[in-house]
Order: sequence, then structure tokens, then C-alpha cells
Amino acid sequence: MAGPYLGIDHLGIAVGDLTAARQTYRDLLGFTELGLEELPARGLAVAMLGCGESRLELLAATRADAEISTFLARRGEGLHHVAVRVADLDRTLAQLAHAGVRLIDTTAKPGAHGSRVAFVHPKGTHGVLLELVEQPGADGETR
Ligand code: CO
Repeated sequence: MAGPYLGIDHLGIAVGDLTAARQTYRDLLGFTELGLEELPARGLAVAMLGCGESRLELLAATRADAEISTFLARRGEGLHHVAVRVADLDRTLAQLAHAGVRLIDTTAKPGAHGSRVAFVHPKGTHGVLLELVEQPGADGETR
């Protein structure tokens, strides 16, 4: 059976200081910065870095109660999530919920650059926070 997954969209890295992390990844490590965005609803500032055909996402909190603050406080900086692309997020969420997968988000929320995202709980994935990403227009609809 063909699964709903189209590929790795990006790997998310939690950082304490986005300016310092951008300098490290861009100026020291030589990654290309593709964009910088704030997601006020989620208390996040996000920098996307190019890595060939793949991408890395640097995530920093913009307020104390941001969803990533708990992770940073408990685990410190580091790999935070693996994001996989799906064509139809609503359909994939319904399928996973039906299969009994533990979801953090049962409905889509706004992601970077007009994408829609939802997270699968790491307790349901053997320890990896999995982000499902639907890119704008991926299912042929305009949103
Ligand atoms: Co992400």
C-alpha cells in the first residue's frame, strides 16, 4: 500500500538564540539561508536553511510560553523534529487518528511560508516528534 508521505520536508533544530544560530549555520557552516519568518500564533521565529534539495529549520521561541520553550528547558538545543511532506494533511490526520496513532494536533495549524502542519506525538513514533507538512497548493486547491 502506498503511504501518504512524499518525502522529508525538513529537519527542525531547536535553538536558544536565533541570531547566533543563523550566524553559525550560515557564516560558519556555510548553509544558504532561504528565509526568515515569525509565527506569532505559535510563539516561534523560524529560519529555513537550504541543504541541496533538503532543508533545515532553526526554531527559536519568541515568548516564554511558546510550544518549543518546554523542549528547550528540558532537553536544551538540538534536533527537535522530523518533518515529512504529505499531499493532503486533513486526510492523513483522519487516517492516522482512525489507526489509533497518538496525535498532538488533530487539526492543521499554520506552518512556515503558508504551509499547514500538524504534529504526531513522539510516544506514538518511538521517540521522534513527527511533523506532517502540506505545502500550499499541494493538493491542487488554493487556500
Ligand atoms: Co518544522
